[in-house]
This record gives sequence, C-alpha cells and structure tokens, in this order.
Amino acid sequence: MNTNASLRLAKPFGAAVLLVVAMLSGVPSHAADAPPTHPAPPDTLQQRIATCTTCHGVHGEGTPGSGYFPRLAGKPATYLTRQMQDFQNGLRKYAPMEYTVRQLSPAYMQEIAEYFSSQQVPYSHSPVPAVSAATMQRGDELVSKGDPVRKIPACASCHGSQLTGVEPSTPGLVGLPYDYLSAQLGSWRTHTRATVAPDCMAVVANRLSDSDITAVAASLASRQLPADTHAQAAGSVTPPLPCGVLGATGDGT
Ligand code: HEC
Ligand code: HEC
Repeated sequence: MNTNASLRLAKPFGAAVLLVVAMLSGVPSHAADAPPTHPAPPDTLQQRIATCTTCHGVHGEGTPGSGYFPRLAGKPATYLTRQMQDFQNGLRKYAPMEYTVRQLSPAYMQEIAEYFSSQQVPYSHSPVPAVSAATMQRGDELVSKGDPVRKIPACASCHGSQLTGVEPSTPGLVGLPYDYLSAQLGSWRTHTRATVAPDCMAVVANRLSDSDITAVAASLASRQLPADTHAQAAGSVTPPLPCGVLGATGDGT
C-alpha cells in the first residue's frame, strides 16, 4: 500500500493553500503572539479538502448560478470516487482536476468522496436559456420515454424515476445547471469525458443530436426538485439494456 506516501505527498499542496488563506485573513499580523515553534498543521479532513473547496464550495455546493465548478454535495460516493479515478487515469480531462488528484491514494479519494456525498446543502437555481415549447417537449420525452427510433433509452430508466440517481454509481440529473449538463453530454462525444467500460453514457450521448442535447438539458434544468433528492437504492431500477449490449448494438464506429 502506498497510502502513507500519497498522504505525505498530498500535504504540501493543502498546506500551501492554508498558508495563502491564513495570509489573506490577516493571521500574520498576530505573528508576535504565536508560539516560537509552529506545531505541524493538524491532518484533518477539513485541511485535506481545503484545495477542493476553493473551487467546489465549502460543502461541495458548486458555484451557484453557474455550471462551471460542479456540485459534489449529495452525489453517490462511489460515483464521486470513480470520477476522481477517471481524472487520475486520463479518461476524463480537465487539467486542474487531473493535477489536483494526481497524488491521491484510492483510500483517500474514497474518504473525500464520502465527505462530499454526505453534505446536505440546498440546490440553487441556475439560468436556463429560453427554448421553444417544441424543444422543451422533445426534452421531456427523451427524459421519460427516450426515442425508440433512434435507440435512445429514457434517461429516467437509469437515473431513477425522480432523476435523483441510483446508488452506487449513477448520479442524479435534477438540480444540475443547464450549462453543466450540456457541457458534459458534449464531452462524451468529444472524448474529453469517458469512464471504464461499459461506458453507457458515451453510447447515449452519441445518439443524441446537438438539438437533443439542448432539449434534454433545458428539460432537466427547468424541473422542480423532488422533496427527497437522495439517490434511489441500488437495484431499484432495471437499466434498459446491459450497457455492454447497448454498446454492441450502437453506432458501430
Ligand atoms: C481549479 C478548480 C478545481 C479544484 C481545485 C478542484 N476541482 Fe474538482 N472539478 C473542477 C471542475 C471545473 C470540474 C468539472 C470538469 C469537467 O467539466 O469535466 C471538476 C470535477 C470534479 C468531479 C466530478 C464531478 C461530477 O459530478 O462528475 C469531482 C468528483 C471533483 N471535481 C472532485 C474534486 C476534489 C475531491 C478536489 C480536491 C482534491 C477537487 N475536485 C479540486 C474544478 C476543480
Ligand atoms: C444505460 C443507463 C443510462 C442511461 C439510459 C442514461 N444514463 Fe446518464 N449516466 C449513466 C451512468 C452510469 C452515469 C455515470 C457515468 C460515469 O461514471 O462517468 C451517467 C452520468 C450522466 C451525467 C453526468 C452527471 C454529472 O454529475 O456529471 C449526465 C449529465 C447524464 N448521465 C445525462 C443523461 C441523459 C440526459 C440521459 C438521457 C438522454 C441519460 N443520461 C441516460 C447511465 C445512464
């Protein structure tokens, strides 16, 4: 196990951020009161995630009003862990994330994922572009029924009837901003986002047209949140097809 080595390597980065935060909050002006020898900073989870929260928010709430820094709060822990692994392995591409998780051990990623998964913070409403009634209807249909002609399964058939996700590794779609949803669906098509096989979403996203992406993102981002936003229990949905079969019958290239 390289857990300890990874933890040690991860520390200087977090400590550097804490130092910057301490400087910004004026701590050095009290330096005269400080004890002559500085104890090692405590190795707490809060300290470890200080780097993450500068972009993802203190409780992983994301950037309200924008889709740029995604929400982590409440997403299934196994899903979050897998995303970190995907950034680490170069399957999902975003340079600052790849850099931030490069040194993290599997156990450490799991611990961080469980922290953010357990955070309960309200969702904030993000702007949705005005789309025609026909586009909104197309989006609603894709979400609840899919498009049998184009072999697009209903989003709800995997993401749950309330679209709050399904444990352990299918995230919810309600409450996510339009910009984030459309960007992620695009990224499966441009190969900047992928996951370990079977990568169901690569198949689904490649069957959507550009206008379908606009439609489905507008439909999802305009929805009222259900009272309970927790992911459904594992095994509570039967995916339309095993993803491997879905892939094999897919677009071919
Ligand atoms: C410089 C800003 C920045 C920092 C620092 C950062 N992230 Fe991210 N993170 C992002 C952005 C932006 C994305 C979305 C990238 C994309 O579009 O695919 C992301 C995506 C993620 C995702 C996938 C979310 C999802 O719903 O699929 C996880 C999980 C995550 N980050 C965890 C972390 C953790 C844990 C840390 C700290 C160890 C961290 N991030 C530090 C900006 C950041
Ligand atoms: C066959 C099952 C399946 C179907 C059908 C499906 N999804 Fe997914 N979706 C998944 C899984 C599994 C993931 C997690 C992927 C990963 O780990 O990278 C996911 C992830 C996503 C994400 C990323 C969320 C985030 O927080 O980053 C979006 C967006 C998404 N799906 C949209 C859709 C839309 C829109 C539809 C309907 C057109 C749809 N999905 C249909 C299984 C499915």
